Parts: sequence; C-alpha cells; structure tokens
Amino acid sequence: MRAWTIVLLLVSCSTQSEGVAPATAVPAPKEITWSNDPAIAKRVDELLAKMTLEEKLGQLNQYSAGHPTGPETGNKPIEDMIAAGQVGSILNLAGADKINRLQKIAVERSRLKIPLLFGLDVIHGYRTTFPIPLALAASWNPDLVQRTAEVAAAEAAAGGVRWTFSPMVDIANDARWGRIIEGSGEDPYLGSVMAKAYVVGYQGKRLGGPTSIAACAKHYVGYGAPEAGRDYNTTYIPERRLRAVYLPPFKAAVDAGVATLMSAFSALNDVPTSANPYTMNILKREWRFNGFVVSDWTSIGELIEHGIATDGAMAARKAMLAGVDMDMESSLYIRELPALIKAGQVPPGAIDDAVRRILRVKFALGLFERPYTDEKPPADAIDPASLDVAKQAALESFVLLKNTPAKDTPILPIGNAVRRIALIGPLADDADNMQGAWAGWGGQASAKDVTTLRVALEAYAKEHALEVVYERGTEITGGSAAGIAKAVAAAKTADLVLLAVGESGGDMTGEASSRTRLDLPGLQASLVSAIAAAGRPTALLVFSGRPLALTPYVDAFPAVVQAWHPGVQGGPALVAALTGAADFSGRLPVTMPRSVGQVPIYYNHLNTGRPAKTIDLSKPATGDAKYKSRYIDELNAPLYPFGYGLSYSQFTYSPVMPSASSLSAKALEQSGSGITVRATVKNVGTRKGVEVAQLYVRLRGTSVSLPVRELKGYQRLALEAGESRDVVFSIGKEQLAFWNIDLKYVVEPSAVSIWIAPDAQAGQPAELTVTP
Ligand code: NOJ
Repeated sequence: MRAWTIVLLLVSCSTQSEGVAPATAVPAPKEITWSNDPAIAKRVDELLAKMTLEEKLGQLNQYSAGHPTGPETGNKPIEDMIAAGQVGSILNLAGADKINRLQKIAVERSRLKIPLLFGLDVIHGYRTTFPIPLALAASWNPDLVQRTAEVAAAEAAAGGVRWTFSPMVDIANDARWGRIIEGSGEDPYLGSVMAKAYVVGYQGKRLGGPTSIAACAKHYVGYGAPEAGRDYNTTYIPERRLRAVYLPPFKAAVDAGVATLMSAFSALNDVPTSANPYTMNILKREWRFNGFVVSDWTSIGELIEHGIATDGAMAARKAMLAGVDMDMESSLYIRELPALIKAGQVPPGAIDDAVRRILRVKFALGLFERPYTDEKPPADAIDPASLDVAKQAALESFVLLKNTPAKDTPILPIGNAVRRIALIGPLADDADNMQGAWAGWGGQASAKDVTTLRVALEAYAKEHALEVVYERGTEITGGSAAGIAKAVAAAKTADLVLLAVGESGGDMTGEASSRTRLDLPGLQASLVSAIAAAGRPTALLVFSGRPLALTPYVDAFPAVVQAWHPGVQGGPALVAALTGAADFSGRLPVTMPRSVGQVPIYYNHLNTGRPAKTIDLSKPATGDAKYKSRYIDELNAPLYPFGYGLSYSQFTYSPVMPSASSLSAKALEQSGSGITVRATVKNVGTRKGVEVAQLYVRLRGTSVSLPVRELKGYQRLALEAGESRDVVFSIGKEQLAFWNIDLKYVVEPSAVSIWIAPDAQAGQPAELTVTP
C-alpha cells in the first residue's frame, strides 16, 4: 500500500456502547504523509541505531559538486568522503550520469549504503525555462504555476535531481533588491497561494513518485526585507509584522507539506537567521515542521562575520542548537561537532533529531529503493507539452500597463492598418536575456530553446503579409549611441513601433544584483527619448526582473507592457498578446514605483497620523498641505498599484453588497464563519477577457493600526463580451483575524471596510461593523 494514501481513522472503541456513535466521537481522519508516516519513522530509527557519530554528521554535511577537494586544499577527494559516509547531500550537479557516478559510491561503497540527496536551484524551470517567479505571480493563477513546477520537477527528476531550492517565498517590497525576481511579490496572501502551488507542483501527490522532487521554501525568514535593498543586508522586522507579512507564505508551504526549508543569509532583529532559535522554534515547535532545514551557502561559517561567533566551533554550535539541520558548504558541522559533543556543548539528541529529519526525507523520496536515475541522452528539443505550459505561463504573466487611444483607437492589439512594424531595442532579439536570472543553473537550459520576440514576430509577419524591420538600437548596458539614429530612421518608416527595452536577465537581476537606480540602464533612456521624438505610434515593452520606475517612459508612449523575463516561449506568447490572438490578463504582484526614492513602497502600508490625501506638486507645499506624510518633490501614489493590469476588454464593478451589516467577534471566534460579500462584475468591452476581482479589507478601531488595505481573496473570471458574473467572498475569521497588541491572532470589535475591486487603489468599500 502506498504510504501517502493510507488514512488512519482514530476511532475510540473503549467507551462506546454498541450502535451508531455520535459524530463527535470519531475524530477527523488523520492523513498519513511522508512527514508522519510510522513506517518511515521505524526505518529511520532502525538506521539511526546503526550509525556512528561520524556517519551521522556525514548526513548533515552538504557540498557543492565544485567543492574544493584534494591534497592542496586539505580536504579529502569527494569520492573518498562519500565512501566514508561523510557526505549526505551534493548540490550543483546535474545529469543522470554524473549523479549516478557519485550515488554509486554512496550506495555501494559506504558502510550503511545511505544514498546521497542531490539538490539544485531549479527556480523557474530545469530544461524548459518559464518566466521568472515574479512574473509567474503576475498570472495570479496558482494552477498554472503548479503546472510549471510539475514540468520542472519531472525534468529535474529525469536528470537525477531530487531536490530543488525553490520556492523562494520571501515577501519583498523593495525593487532595488535583485532577488525580488525570485519571489511572488509583496503580498502575504498572494505569496501564500503561490507558495502552496509550487510545493504541490514539485512534490506531486507522493514525494516518492518518479516525477516528484522535494521542495525547499526559502529563505527563512525575512531575507526579502534587507535594509536599503542591498542583498544579504540586515533586516529589522517586529514580531507582529513578521507574523502578519513574512511568515505566512512559509506557513503555507509547511501546510502544503514542504519537505525542507533554507535558513537565510541575513540577520533578523540582530540574530542571524542561520542560528536563530526564535524563528526555528516557530517552525519546528509551533508549526511542527517535520522536514529539515538546510543552511544557505556557507551561512553557518558567516556567523563569524555576523559577529555572533568568534570561530567555526562557536558557529557550528549556535547553528545546530538553533535547529539548522544541514550545513551547506561550510564544513563546520563535520569538522567541529565531534569535539563539541565530546565537551558536552552540543547534546547528541540534537544531532539525532537533525539526522532523523534528513533520513525521513530521503526515505520519503524513495532514494533507498531507487537511488539511480535512468541515463537517457537529453532530448534534442523540449517536449511540446512543456512548451505549451511555458507559452501559457508567459502569456498570463504579461501585464498591460497602458493602452490609451492614439487618434481614435488604442494601438494594441495591432490593427489591420498596420503593414510595417519597426521592432527596436536590445531586448527584442536576445535569447539569453529572455531566460531570466536562474535559468539553466546546472547547465540544462539553453538559449537555443528560446524563441525571441523578433523570431516570433517575423514568423507571424510572414503569415500575415506584414513587414518587420529590426534595429537593436543600443545595448542593454554600455554600447554606443551609433545605432540610435538607425533605429529612429527605421521607426519613421513604420506604421507601428515595438520598442523592447529593459534589464539583462543574468547579471542585473537575481542574487547579488541590487541596484540603486530603477531606470533603464545604459543608453536605453536615450534610445527611448529618440524613438518618442520620432512620433510614430509606439508600444513600449519592458523586459525586467523587477518593477522599474518607468514614469518618464510611460508618459512618452500610448501603450506599455510589462513583459518581465518571460522564458523560452516569451516571443510567441508576446506576439499572441500584441496581435490580439490572446488577451492580456496579468496583474501586478508588486507596486510599481514612480521613482526610486519611494521604495520600499507597498499597497498594504499603514495610514500614519498624517496621510496626504491629495498632493499638488505644481505649487510649494505650505501650511496644512506641507505637514503631511509626503514628499515635496514626488507623489505618494505609485505609478501603478498592486493588483493592477489591463485587458483588451473593460470591466465594471457594482457596489459591494454584504449579506449583513454587522457580525460578532465572539461568534466568529467560535465558528469561524461569518457573512458573505458580493459584487457583480460585467465585461462591458467588445471581446472576451479575464478579470481578477480582488477582495480587500481594512479594519479600524482595533488594538493595533492595520494596513489601509489587505488582500484577502481573489477570483479570476473569464467573461464573454457583455457577460456579468456575481463574485461572492466569505468574510469570516480568516479574513478578519489579525495579530493584535498582545500578539494573539484574534478577531476584535472593529469597523470594517470591504472592497471588491480591480486593484489595490480602485473601488468603493462597503462598511461593516464587528461587534463584541
Ligand atoms: C545561495 C542562494 O541564496 C540560495 O537561494 C541558493 O539556493 C543557494 N545559494 C544554493 O545555490
């Protein structure tokens, strides 16, 4: 019988008399998963009982395939360490042949034959590169995101990789931080929805399934809030905010059964998270997480730089006592723990707990039964079904930011009058940079698999008797202005200009790629101004890993599309959307700033005691207008709010209709269920379109200040032209409870505003009262 399908019915049979037992006498069935399976627990205990201390510490030790070994480094060759049971996991190796070679040593030459666990950063695809995670979040479509993770898992597993260091579930609201690309944006609700989708996608129905891999929710916790947006920098997050904003996506991942978590590089409230007993306790005791925690790369060793350890031994002791189970790349557990245990500074029970957690995951993955991977030569081309998922994912990730009429009609979709298109810009035909920051980690993805916008547009043009003239114009960074004049000349001959600009995927976004500017790099601003001055109808297409401050560029053009780094099928998907064969349906998962000085900027901020309701920058702020929470040289409002995105159709919303005007906090605490709110959404446009109806709440009169709006749910609606649909949301404990002044998660008496709206700034609220 497969362990994950067994359901234990915990029926109490001692005191029941004959007959039908009252419903309450039968506790809810408890599903057995990899994490609580007694059969796995038994195998773990039996194996643990046979292990020497050295073998136990070996399980806690993880090396990169490129780890320096050999005589000159003082380290034994990796093969000898594996044979001696001194390595539990290897990262950064891909390819069944290479993986099998090392696995064979573990399984055939080590005393206890414990298989290695091979991990890799499969972040947005393995061979099939999907849009970057921030773009996937813009789809607001967890089923689609789950499908991308399923494809990635199947491809990775076929290559011998059984563990991905994904999803990154760090909430981020500072676009300067390069790693904002890797998460699902700024909102804890959307972030939690996406966290679950990735975990379910990677891990499948059964962790031991042939196409399943273990997921890793990272970076626990707070890493996405570095001061000044600088990677690896310090974070300060008060506990209430930690629980309200930063922890929920991790909790969602744990609830979805995630097998592992990664501790972060950063310090949280002065305690580095790779040795933070407080956050580890939340994970392991409060949430009862049964998987294991791996440190980030050398983050145990970095405790010395952080200043909480003076040497490797102190670092190892603090990390182990806090609850970090596996040491990625520091070598400190294997080197320092024997003496620490001998000296009584680390209890053997702590080691056993960590080993148990790691073995549990290895058993659940079926590594003991199937340590090897079939060695098939890589396919010449990506499976067409995977390409379809990549195309749909790219399509649903694009956000149409602006599409105002030039003359009478909007310039998108590309109309019949357009016969000649000038495709301009450094991102129009750049296969490498379509892939995004984490593509091909491990060498499986290739720019050769990418269809660029130019290639896709030229193919479309051929079929539709259109002419496309292409000019690169300038480079992403550096380069000369020489190409700009040629680009302008091309633009002047065209009926429509498509201007593809932005950031590079590999070195301007992702890890260690924080920026202090959020503008278009290099000479692209000059290119943009020159094309704007050419005066032809132009759509600006922005390929970036973060929300850029697009203010001047957006003002210059009637149509603007946020295209992110869209992956292998970015070109065909974009052509489908630009030509109107498909609609735009993406919505921003992050607030888009007007200028870099506004960041961190996020929709779910507090109101302050001096909110600036209207700001007029055309005159100097004096008197009442000045002493508000505002800037003297910029609006408070973002360029585009969280949740925003256009379609080729237009939608209207009726007023929000609650099923009752009040509800009681006490009743909500007891039953959890409350009332419903409803609104009618109508497609008033001329074609079918997808609308994302978003539920927001604001509570006032509470023991702590709460955000001006918080997303509590949403529904994606595909509506035919003229079609109306009622959207209904429940308003119960889940939507109204919060971490209060006593750090209790409760519903308090309050005044509640509720919006059902197309974004975080739009709509009129209905008002409710929560009575005691
Ligand atoms: C460091 C990164 O912070 C982390 O996200 C990644 O998984 C590890 N390196 C392993 O490559």
